[in-house]
Amino acid sequence: MKNVLRLTSSIFEEGSVSSMLMQELLSAFVSAGESFQIVERNFRESPVPHLDAAWLQALMTPEADRSDEQQAKVDYSDSLIAEVQQADTLVIALPMYNFSLPSMLKAWVDHIARAGVTFKYTESGPVGLLQDKKVYLVAAMGGVHDSAASDFLRPYMKLIMSFVGLTDVEFITADGLNMGPERREQGIEQARQQIANTVVGDESQTIHRKDAA
Ligand SMILES: Cc1cc2nc3c(=O)[nH]c(=O)nc-3n(C[C@H](O)[C@H](O)[C@H](O)COP(=O)(O)O)c2cc1C
Repeated sequence: MKNVLRLTSSIFEEGSVSSMLMQELLSAFVSAGESFQIVERNFRESPVPHLDAAWLQALMTPEADRSDEQQAKVDYSDSLIAEVQQADTLVIALPMYNFSLPSMLKAWVDHIARAGVTFKYTESGPVGLLQDKKVYLVAAMGGVHDSAASDFLRPYMKLIMSFVGLTDVEFITADGLNMGPERREQGIEQARQQIANTVVGDESQTIHRKDAA
């Protein structure tokens, strides 16, 4: 059984394409025989507070000197990091808002990117400290941004995941969603095809690993 951390970041409860496709990806894995224990973070229901100066101060204060309020802040950030550390797989719904990621997801990133815990700086540059996790990013966008200067979403997510050590990243993308009904259907269908390929690809890798064992 895999431990999955599922992050939902659409501002919409109904009609979110990224949430729908994320669920379809997990269901496809279950149909292929995978079993999961899922920890869910839904940022619309429980927004992550912004990392402000008081929060950083709390993190930098030695445990023995922290006020109760500071300790509560540290405990909260620690719990977000622990969820990532304990997961084998991260599945992140990734709507494009204003060419980038939802601010609620960015707030989560600011908590989990912590020096000395999820990354460190060395003489040869930064080193990510999280390891051996698969990350699925299920992106949804109104336009088409492949290879475009307007895509600050997928390159950023790839970079920040790699910065904390998560280099095994795979994107599922539904694009053109606001470009008319036909193009929208095509965008969703294209993502469904990517989901099917991903699940088949993972199955064959599992078989190869079993063969090798
Ligand atoms: C506030 C807002 C900003 C958006 N900005 C962009 C954008 O910059 N580029 C784009 O291609 N689509 C943009 N869209 C369209 C969304 O990416 C699209 O609706 C997608 O389905 C969002 O994912 P969701 O359905 O899971 O919420 C925006 C939508 C909203 C609500």
